[in-house]
Amino acid sequence: MHPVDLIRKKRDGEELSAEEIQFLAQGAAQGSIPEEQLAAWLMAAFLRGLSLAEVDALTTAMRFSGEVFDSSTLGKFAVDKHSTGGVGDKTSLLVAPIAAAAGLAVPMISGRALGHTGGTLDKLESIPGYRTQLSLKEMESVLTKVGASIVGQTQDLVPADRVLYALRDRTSTVESPYLICASIMSKKLAAGLNGLVLDVKTGSGAFLRRKEDALFLAALMVETGERAGTHTAALLTNMDQPLGHMAGNWIEVWESLELLQGKRDPLSEDLRELSLALAGWMLFLGGVTRTAEEGRQSAEEILTSGEALKVFTQMVAAHGGDTTPLGQPAQFHKPGVSKELCAERSGYLAHIDCTAAGWAVQRLGAGRERAGEPVDPFAGIEWYVKLGSPIKAGQPLCTMFSGQASRFSEPEALLRKALVIADKPVEEGPLIQGIITAENRKEFLKTTNPS
Ligand code: URA
Repeated sequence: MHPVDLIRKKRDGEELSAEEIQFLAQGAAQGSIPEEQLAAWLMAAFLRGLSLAEVDALTTAMRFSGEVFDSSTLGKFAVDKHSTGGVGDKTSLLVAPIAAAAGLAVPMISGRALGHTGGTLDKLESIPGYRTQLSLKEMESVLTKVGASIVGQTQDLVPADRVLYALRDRTSTVESPYLICASIMSKKLAAGLNGLVLDVKTGSGAFLRRKEDALFLAALMVETGERAGTHTAALLTNMDQPLGHMAGNWIEVWESLELLQGKRDPLSEDLRELSLALAGWMLFLGGVTRTAEEGRQSAEEILTSGEALKVFTQMVAAHGGDTTPLGQPAQFHKPGVSKELCAERSGYLAHIDCTAAGWAVQRLGAGRERAGEPVDPFAGIEWYVKLGSPIKAGQPLCTMFSGQASRFSEPEALLRKALVIADKPVEEGPLIQGIITAENRKEFLKTTNPS
């Protein structure tokens, strides 16, 4: 096979065979196909799209391009939740211990901050000593002891994605539903999952902002998961504003701990509701309950009983983390400097450009400019208002935390533009905007396929 023939074929809109796609994925993982040819093929795939069979073949080839985790040794149903990326989205820190407390195994391979969105690994590494880089053997041992392990991708897991993702980043070919699907699903399926719940974001803070694009991606991922024999469901959820009232690293662990301790705060209700819905689906797919709604109820009982907090604390300890800060999260929060942002006029909070709000969080130091840079564990934003809140001129809208005062000017300018106060309240969209399952996926693949 010759890469140039496969580029021409895709460029002309033809369908590649599974063997041809396997050749490309293997060439990416082994470095035997030059980057310029991989990049040209990616652009052709971005512009022409892929058939369902091609997405399936690409996902499978990438999944098996390196080592895979064998979850059958755990003797439990292995389930995970994955989000397409959000602002203030700390649901992983809640759903993983809830599902583990319900008797499921949660091998959760997570990522770092990407663009304007936060990363679960960066949040967990704000806990002193928490090791995210475990070998698969070490992850297995944590799963056996605790039931949940949140780790980073190992060097040998899905190497084809590492190469292709970096190329996509440099060639403006990230936002393709087909390539996003293969990238996410190859990593999730390499973790040996029996069940997977996807949180596909839509709205001003999502990578795919338009609802029809998010629906198509959700259906594509459910289709790909089901073809691989993993029970998959996707919730389409609102990312028009940060989830909960903290966005950053440690402050997100802090907000999660409050919910794990059974506390309620009106500003955290959306986070609590979404976490329970996602955990409900995990419990349902894992056969713990008969319906997702019953799963939600069980998840709520587990959360309020403190069982999930117990698992979370055990998981932190098993990863080498210091559990002392978990008991006093407010005292542990030691940002260098903080600054309030106050409303310039009265009215109602009518719109948030949530992508800009996410960039403000990252630029305060919660994210990185270049891969490999350290992040500030205490940087971030605490919000005092949600969409629809009545606002009085001069009232604090949020507090920014950072390591240095010189970091405030850009986030402040971003936030001033991102937060729109209007005379009248506006109608908010529902938190959960759709559910794609094995049963209804075909409908969305048919009606919204952009090609
Ligand atoms: N996250 C991934 O892992 N891959 C993508 O392509 C997009 C988001």
